[in-house]
Amino acid sequence: MPQVKLVGIPGSLRAASFSRATLIGLCSVLPDTVAMEICDLRLPLYNEDDDRSDAPEVVSKFRDAIASSDGVVIVTPEYNHGIPGVLKNALDWASRPFGKSVLTNKPALAISISPAFTGGVRAHAQLNETLLAIPALVLGGPQVVIADIGNKIEDGVLVDQPSLSFALTALQRMVGRVGAPRLIA
Ligand code: FNR
Repeated sequence: MPQVKLVGIPGSLRAASFSRATLIGLCSVLPDTVAMEICDLRLPLYNEDDDRSDAPEVVSKFRDAIASSDGVVIVTPEYNHGIPGVLKNALDWASRPFGKSVLTNKPALAISISPAFTGGVRAHAQLNETLLAIPALVLGGPQVVIADIGNKIEDGVLVDQPSLSFALTALQRMVGRVGAPRLIA
């Protein structure tokens, strides 16, 4: 029975997405005590007019998954030096209602991937900025960026051991925070 429940958010809808492959690889090395559910970001375009108590069902499910988790792991590609629109759209849905977002104070680990040697660092920085604005509990420390991602995936799974252990070290820091006593009610 898992003691820690995480939500994995891949910032790409592509069938053979390296971002999702990275999350699948991470799932494969997690101990039995940690479970990660990988979300699909096929959500409607954010429109504040639609963001009422009867928000679209897919949005409610996405928010509920985050709410019932102990933390989120977001793996993003870089699109034109930023995060993909689908990811920003999903974070905008998750960020509301204002002041009551399911991401408020939720531990969040950002990971960027890229076929380029730059590893998506600009998307990584932009993702953290959005998470801070919400505000999620952004995990600091060494930025987990994975370069040359295309050569580290086999059959839709990240298999590169240095990348997996780099990401796991950050994940370990995040999981270590779960269950800490609250200082303010
Ligand atoms: C890219 N790609 C890309 N890569 C990068 O390192 N920096 C960038 O600015 C961009 N820009 C960009 C824009 C658009 C519109 C696309 C489609 C792609 C390449 C990108 O990193 C690569 O396609 C990834 O494999 C996409 O992630 P998934 O779908 O594999 O998860």
